[in-house]
Amino acid sequence: MSQSVQAPNDLESYWMPFSSNRSFKTSPRMIGSARDMHYFTPEGRKLIDAAAGLWCVNAGHGRPSIVKAIQDQAAEMDFSPPFQYGHPQAFQLARRIAALAPGDLDHVFFTCSGSEAVDTALKIALAYHNVTGQGARQRLIGRVRGYHGVGFGGIAVGGMVANRKFFGLALPAVDHLPTTYNSTEQAFSRGEPEWGAHLANELENIVGLHDASTIAAVIVEPMAGSTGVLPAPVGYLQRLRQICDKYGLLLIFDEVITGFGRLGHAFAAERYGVVPDMICFAKGVTSGAVPMGGVIVRGPVYDAFMKGPEHAVEFMHGYTYSGHPLACAAGLAALDLYEHEKIFANASRMEKPFEEAVHSLKGLPGVVDIRNVGIAAAIELSPRANAPGKRGFEVMDEAFHRQDVLIRIAGDAVVIAPPLILNEDHIGEIVDKVGKAIRAVG
Ligand SMILES: Cc1ncc(COP(=O)(O)O)c(C=O)c1O
Repeated sequence: MSQSVQAPNDLESYWMPFSSNRSFKTSPRMIGSARDMHYFTPEGRKLIDAAAGLWCVNAGHGRPSIVKAIQDQAAEMDFSPPFQYGHPQAFQLARRIAALAPGDLDHVFFTCSGSEAVDTALKIALAYHNVTGQGARQRLIGRVRGYHGVGFGGIAVGGMVANRKFFGLALPAVDHLPTTYNSTEQAFSRGEPEWGAHLANELENIVGLHDASTIAAVIVEPMAGSTGVLPAPVGYLQRLRQICDKYGLLLIFDEVITGFGRLGHAFAAERYGVVPDMICFAKGVTSGAVPMGGVIVRGPVYDAFMKGPEHAVEFMHGYTYSGHPLACAAGLAALDLYEHEKIFANASRMEKPFEEAVHSLKGLPGVVDIRNVGIAAAIELSPRANAPGKRGFEVMDEAFHRQDVLIRIAGDAVVIAPPLILNEDHIGEIVDKVGKAIRAVG
């Protein structure tokens, strides 16, 4: 066993993100290595990965071409400064991503994470209105139950109370659309729910309250992932686009989860036939192998900044690691895999068998809803009395320790979103194991 996968003897120093630190340190769920659809514990126990790591390992784990691209790039050039200098792979990757995006979404700004992608998109929106002479457009509109990462901009437009309430006032000028989820109307629907397109009309009311001249942008996830797989109702995103056009609001799709194949297309924008003004991406761009994120921007938005003296910086924003060479190498190799192995088409082909399998869990103890779209599903469990989230946590722990499957939880919802290289055997195994975990916990 290599040094890197030996169990540590002291877990105390590491403050784990978005984790129950004390329970983990009492009963660790430690992972040591990974290959294709599987994780292995440091002791060598094999688990099927039903979460694509954290919604990101779309091409599967340890793909040799991605590993080699990272190794080669590290040997060739470890770092190059992204401000005022460039390296070829950043331009190549931007071109490849732009080619995957619909319409005139043809410029790419690189960040290092999804949170930074969101904050970057919000800043582009504000600055865009400034440079086009509409500086009063400062309000940003998010949605209840939206997740847009953990930056101050992201938590302001996000709609998860637990992620907001401890952190002061964040950005002041925000408002929120209502969630698209309604359990009475939508429980156990398959794919995009029929009910709910009218909820986009709430944007008209928000415009009525604040006036369009004060609103910069609207940001939504085409499928809200982190709050438990809430697919967009049929027609909802199209309606949002119409209202944004009517009032000159920029529409931002946060595709950090839905980008790079999760819904069977390069971007969900393509699935829904809607061209937003910006797309935020991260995760799948490198298949999770190196941190990277970014924003794809429509040509006219980019062009609006390309004014003034040519020696001057047009947009005062960027990160030391924007377009990092290792991330670009991983991104180019991941896009090659997506293309050569037709991984997005595989996701599309597997959508129906996946849907059938996850809905077979209806009737298990505590299951109150099952939702799915693309290769993403949530099995909602009723919470234990006075202990929201405990039942979901117990299922995750049981799944890891005794059923050999790694899942995600969103409160009391079990979330399944495996790598997009899955086949019907993987689907059967995952759903069988998740079912056993739900039954075992009761
Ligand atoms: C829709 C969405 N936006 C933003 C983020 C934040 O990405 P990151 O954790 O890379 O900062 C996430 C993470 O899950 C996400 O799902």
